[in-house]
Amino acid sequence: MVLPLFCARTQPVQTIGCGRGNTPFPASPLCDCKLFRSTSSIQGHTELARERSKTVTSFYNQSAIDASAEKALVRLTPTTLLYAGKSPDGNHILSSAKYLHKELPVRIAHRIKGFRSLPFIIGCNPTILQVHELYIRAYHVLSDFPVIKDQEMDARYSKLVQQLLDDHKDVVTLLAEGFRECRRHIQDENLVRNFLDTTLTSRLGIRMLATHHLALHEENPDFVGIICRRLSPKKIIEKWVDFARRLCEHQYGNSPRVRINGHVAARFPFIPLPLDYILPELLKNAMRATMESHLDTPYNLPDVIVTIANNDVDFVIRISDRGGGISHNILDKVTDYHYSTAEESYQDPRMNNLFNTLTNSGPQSGPMHGFGFGLPTSRAYAEYLGGSLSIQSMQGIGTDVYLRLRHIDGKGESFRV
Ligand SMILES: Nc1ncnc2c1ncn2[C@@H]1O[C@H](COP(=O)(O)OP(=O)(O)O)[C@@H](O)[C@H]1O
Ligand SMILES: [Mg+2]
Repeated sequence: MVLPLFCARTQPVQTIGCGRGNTPFPASPLCDCKLFRSTSSIQGHTELARERSKTVTSFYNQSAIDASAEKALVRLTPTTLLYAGKSPDGNHILSSAKYLHKELPVRIAHRIKGFRSLPFIIGCNPTILQVHELYIRAYHVLSDFPVIKDQEMDARYSKLVQQLLDDHKDVVTLLAEGFRECRRHIQDENLVRNFLDTTLTSRLGIRMLATHHLALHEENPDFVGIICRRLSPKKIIEKWVDFARRLCEHQYGNSPRVRINGHVAARFPFIPLPLDYILPELLKNAMRATMESHLDTPYNLPDVIVTIANNDVDFVIRISDRGGGISHNILDKVTDYHYSTAEESYQDPRMNNLFNTLTNSGPQSGPMHGFGFGLPTSRAYAEYLGGSLSIQSMQGIGTDVYLRLRHIDGKGESFRV
């Protein structure tokens, strides 16, 4: 049997037969379309084959990746990250580079193993294959990099790491799209959840380590790498409130005000990066619920209230809205990947009017909702960080979302990145 070889998001351009036992396996979707168009000559084909061979081979020749995937991860505590970032001679940067150089290929190999274990019908999806291949490429460039001996090599390595961070920035969106396309073939909801939870939290860990290394090169007295020595929960909440309100105003013409109370003066060491993923999602949800439950009175809105509670063990951020709550029949679905009521609200004629007037009103900074990824990813990230995300709905009134995260000051047990 011969399977079509897809150019990502374009038409099938060529067919190759390549069996894995009796199972044919589609080759990379990440072909360079320009190359394909200019491959009428034999020489073109040869170059193309060479260009592609590494990636295609790695679908079969798994030994290096398999060996890496057998190795255990070396997960660090935030305390280790904090104290490893302290030597004045810059040696800490070199040891950080050496650690990453060993660790990143192992972590990526574990993920590749995850992609390979997906059911065939999912693994074949062009968008998922595209991500799979991004990981394979990352594995090769990172494990081909020679042992890092000096600052000059670290500079080159850091550039490579930055490049890979950029190349992988759309992975969450791609996985969301890919799995949405495959949903109709998947009966087993747990399979999707386990794969996405593991892939996305592992990605968060990798990005934290990589960004930490890059940030160690910068001089900022408030930070050691990605760790902020005195993070103010209030400040970071305010930053994302501004963001969510702008988005909300763009979409609905107005936005609820947000009041922050509780331990507003608290400051402690923490890593802002995961909060930068979670807070905007929770605030967008609260604002959307507020707007959509007040479509008839959009200029008279109840505030969203954010309460901060800090204690020795952890800190809690509660986001309370008066957006009508989450009804009983969907409460256990809202943390499923891809579950969203966005489609339903587009059916509301009052919303349609709103969208029609606002569609062309300027650049948008991202979607307000619709992927159904906000709650499941936030919960997975919170749990990865040794915390939790829990939802209390007062049906008919509003919703309270509690984000609970452990301190990283080394006094109590913490998570490992
Ligand atoms: N604060 C809230 N109030 C009411 N419903 C909510 C709230 N937060 C989430 N939801 C419901 O949960 C669903 C899933 O949320 P989420 O995972 O963020 O995906 P999305 O926002 O893309 O729909 C939403 O579509 C909405 O129906
Ligand atoms: Mg959302």
